[in-house]
Amino acid sequence: MASSEAHPLVKTGGLADVASSLPAALRDLGHDARLIIPAYPQAVRLARELKRVSELRLPGLESGSSTSVRILQGLLPNCDLPVYLVEAPEHFCREGNPYTDVSGHDWGDNPERFMLFSRVVASVALGLQALNWTPHILHCNDWQTGLAPAFLSDQEERPAVIFTIHNLAYQGLFDRAVFDRLQLPPRLWSLAGLEFHQRLSFIKGGIVYADRVNTVSPTYAEEVRTTGNGCGLDGLLRQLDGRFRGILNGIDYRTWNPADDPALPQPYDAGNLHLKAENKLELQRLFKLPRAEDALVLGYVGRLVEQKGADLIAEILPQLLAEPNVQLVMQGSGDRAFERMLSEAGRAHPDRISVHVGYDETRAHLIEAGCDAFLMPSRFEPCGLNQMYSLRYGTVPIAHRTGGLADTIVDANAETLANRSATGFLFDEPSPEGLWQALQRALRTAREHPDQWRQLALTGMHQDFSWQASALAYETFYGEALEARRRLTE
Ligand code: ADP
Ligand code: GLC
Repeated sequence: MASSEAHPLVKTGGLADVASSLPAALRDLGHDARLIIPAYPQAVRLARELKRVSELRLPGLESGSSTSVRILQGLLPNCDLPVYLVEAPEHFCREGNPYTDVSGHDWGDNPERFMLFSRVVASVALGLQALNWTPHILHCNDWQTGLAPAFLSDQEERPAVIFTIHNLAYQGLFDRAVFDRLQLPPRLWSLAGLEFHQRLSFIKGGIVYADRVNTVSPTYAEEVRTTGNGCGLDGLLRQLDGRFRGILNGIDYRTWNPADDPALPQPYDAGNLHLKAENKLELQRLFKLPRAEDALVLGYVGRLVEQKGADLIAEILPQLLAEPNVQLVMQGSGDRAFERMLSEAGRAHPDRISVHVGYDETRAHLIEAGCDAFLMPSRFEPCGLNQMYSLRYGTVPIAHRTGGLADTIVDANAETLANRSATGFLFDEPSPEGLWQALQRALRTAREHPDQWRQLALTGMHQDFSWQASALAYETFYGEALEARRRLTE
């Protein structure tokens, strides 16, 4: 499993959760799954039992030069998943975010960094003697690993390759000059290769050269095959036909379990849902809001970027503030303009809105537990994990009907309320009006029909979004890729 981030070593979003939970679940199924990520300083600090196992010499970008890369092997801190860390200090020994500098700008040498990582991934996939281990499957994720399938494409004895798109909007697009600078094999420069409108596309490496391609929910898999949502790659994805599908992510039920969560002052489960209120009081204390058990608390955790629709929340604040006894807790970071706008709203209404700009796992758990409802007005959402955490924590999601949100939340209407299948509130238009209408439906249900609200929370808690089912789907997918590869080489 090759990824540019993995929880708990280094994380900016859901990819990190998937990159460690999926191989762990595959190990539970009896597979010898292993993870490979760059040796960022925090990853080196956190991994257990690290030892240097191999040294590679790769051709450098100056003529006649070479780059030396070491591979460290260890275990994740919280489970026995083996991890290889790719140590190339010039590329990865930087504090902070894997992709950006402290001011939020992409590192200028990202193409070099992730080309190097992809080269090493390809070498490990072919079986390095020093590691004494050759995988049957290489599973790459997102553009940062997209060149690995391209590098392997002319190798006869290679593993079957899977490429997972976690977010089609991030493609790793660079000028043609970068293709030359990286000295990539000329055979890769074509429309059937890495070229995308005269630019170099890392993600195309994965889409074009992998044996099987998937994304992280069935609905997003449909959406990206349409012109409106395909980010220019819909045609290519349509051509993949049966080689492309959506496999819904799971969530890690060991980390996200309200009955056994060290971040919560009061654990609870579906059998004693009333205890959840204790966590609300603690949340209000931590976020400096009036402590009121009967206030309806809405929550948000996530990257503050256009995709997540946090600006739609900002737009409905006047209406929300006109509602009595509703509080809003938000935590996130990203776009500086969104951060400022939301922080200002918090400062203007300290008794109603509290905003924490930053990344904090413990607080994220408390928000999931302490809120009554969780807002996810994402414009698009390949899968989304927070709504599944919310369901697990009896916190009712209010979300745009898109991608993985549409696949995991059952909208409350007369029929689904009557047959008790409803788990949340969905809206069709990613606009302030759409969000506000869904929110009004939720407020009415919570206030006028507390029994229905309780049932929504309980039905959510009883859903099964554990990794087991998803890991089985990946097992089948891997089997198909192996079989396709076997047929090709026969
Ligand atoms: P994406 O990968 O697009 O950011 P997901 O919903 O798949 O969206 O995953 C986001 C993950 O990152 C979740 O585990 C969420 O809890 C976490 N996360 C995002 N922002 C923060 C934050 N500010 N503090 C803590 N956790 C966060
Ligand atoms: C991406 C998507 C998110 C998904 C995550 C993990 O970052 O934006 O929807 O849940 O990857 O697959």
